[in-house]
Amino acid sequence: MKKTLSWWDLIWFGIGAVIGAGIFVLTGQEARDSAGPAVILSYVVSGVSAMLSVFCYTEFAVEIPVAGGSFAYLRVELGDFMAFIAAGNILLEYVIGGAAVARSWTSYFATLLNHHPNDFRIHAASLNPDYSRLDPIAVAVIAIVCLAAVSSTKATSRFNYVASIVHLAIIVFIIIAGLTQANPKNLSDFTPFGVRGVFSASAVLFFAYVGFDAVSTMAEETKNPAKDIPLGLVGAMAITTGCYCLLALTLCLMQPYSQIDPDAPFSVAFQAIGMDWAKYIVAFGALKGMTTVLLVSAVGQARYLTHIARTHMVPPWLAEVHATTGTPVNATVVMLVATAVIAFFTSLGILSNLLSISTLFIFMMVAVALLVRRYYAPQTWGVPLVPWLPSASIAINTFLLGSIDGPSFVRFGIWTALLLVYYFFGLHASYDTAKAASNDGV
Ligand code: ALA
Repeated sequence: MKKTLSWWDLIWFGIGAVIGAGIFVLTGQEARDSAGPAVILSYVVSGVSAMLSVFCYTEFAVEIPVAGGSFAYLRVELGDFMAFIAAGNILLEYVIGGAAVARSWTSYFATLLNHHPNDFRIHAASLNPDYSRLDPIAVAVIAIVCLAAVSSTKATSRFNYVASIVHLAIIVFIIIAGLTQANPKNLSDFTPFGVRGVFSASAVLFFAYVGFDAVSTMAEETKNPAKDIPLGLVGAMAITTGCYCLLALTLCLMQPYSQIDPDAPFSVAFQAIGMDWAKYIVAFGALKGMTTVLLVSAVGQARYLTHIARTHMVPPWLAEVHATTGTPVNATVVMLVATAVIAFFTSLGILSNLLSISTLFIFMMVAVALLVRRYYAPQTWGVPLVPWLPSASIAINTFLLGSIDGPSFVRFGIWTALLLVYYFFGLHASYDTAKAASNDGV
C-alpha cells in the first residue's frame, strides 16, 4: 500500500470515524434518565477509558502496522483462539455500531422535517417493544453507504476529510450558540441519580468513543508510523473528548435535565430556547456526522473481514477484492446486509449496550496483549508507564463492564457461544475449502 498519510490526516480521519450518533443521541437519554447534568462527568470517565486504550493501540499500530487492527495484534500476542474470539466481537461491534448509527439517522432526519423521531418508523405492535419499531429509512441509508463504500475507497476518504471539517465547525457553532442561552440554574441539581447513575451512563456513553480503532488499520499507509500514529490517534481522541464534554455541558445548561429529549436532544433544546432555525443546522450536522461514521466504519469493517478471511478463519471468498473498483466487495456487502437486518428491528438502547460490552472486552484484551508483549522489547514506539497504563485500562474497563445491564450480558454470552460452536465445528470446513482452493490453483 502507498504511504501517503500524515498525523494531520489521521486526526481528521479519527474525528470522522468517531463523532456521530453517540453524542447527538445518547447524551439526551443518559442526561435525562441516568446521570442528570453530571453526564459531563460520565463523558470524562469513558473518555479516560478510551484514551488509555488509544495508548495501548498506538504501540501495536506502530509495531504491527497491518490492516487487521486489533485482530492482528491479538493473533501475534495471544494466538489464534483469542484472536478468533476478538474477531467475532469486532465484527459484532461494527454491525451493531452501524445499525445504531443508521437508526439514529432516521431520528434526526425526522426532526429535520419537523416530525417526532419515531414518526418515520413502522410500528409492528405484535413484536416485542424493543424490536417493534421497524426502520426502513435506516436500511436505505445503509444500502447507499454500501454502494459508496464498494465504489471507491479514495472517494470515501476525501469525503471524510471535508465532512469532518464541516462537522467540527457545526460543533463549535452549537457550543457558542447554545452557551448564549445558558442558564446556570439548570446545573443546580447536578447528580440527581447519584454516583451510580454517573457510572452507568459512562458505560453506555463509551459508545460515543468507539471507532478510533479504524485509524489503527491505516498504519500501513502512514509516512512515519512511529510519529504519525501516536500523534494522530491521541490528537483525534483529545479533540473528541473535549468536544463531547463541552457539548454535554452546553446541552445541560440549555434545559433542565428532566426536559432533555432522549432522541434528538440538541435539536429539541434549540427549539425550546426559541432558536428554531438553529435546530436545522444541528440536525444537518448530526446527519452529516453519522453518515461519515457509517461510511468510515463500512470501509473499516471490510478491511477487518478481508484480513480475517486471509487467515482462513472465515471463508476465503470474503477476502476477494474487485478487479475494477479495488474494494473488497464481498466483505462489504455481507457486513452491511447484516447491519441492515439488525437496524431494521432493534432499538437503540439494546444496540448501544451490546456495543459497549463487546468493545470494552476487545480493548481489555488489547491491554492484556500489551502486557504480554512487554516480555519482548519494543523497537520504535513504546507506550510509557507500562505496566501501569495497560493495567489501569483493564481496571477501568472492567469497572465500566460492571455497570452494564444483565440482558446485554446474556446477548453477549449467546454470541460468544455461537462463535465457539463455529470455532470448534465450522472452522475446519473453512480451512479445508481454502486448502482445496489452493490445491486447485497448483
Ligand atoms: N462513536 C460512534 C458514534 O458515536 C459509534 O456514532
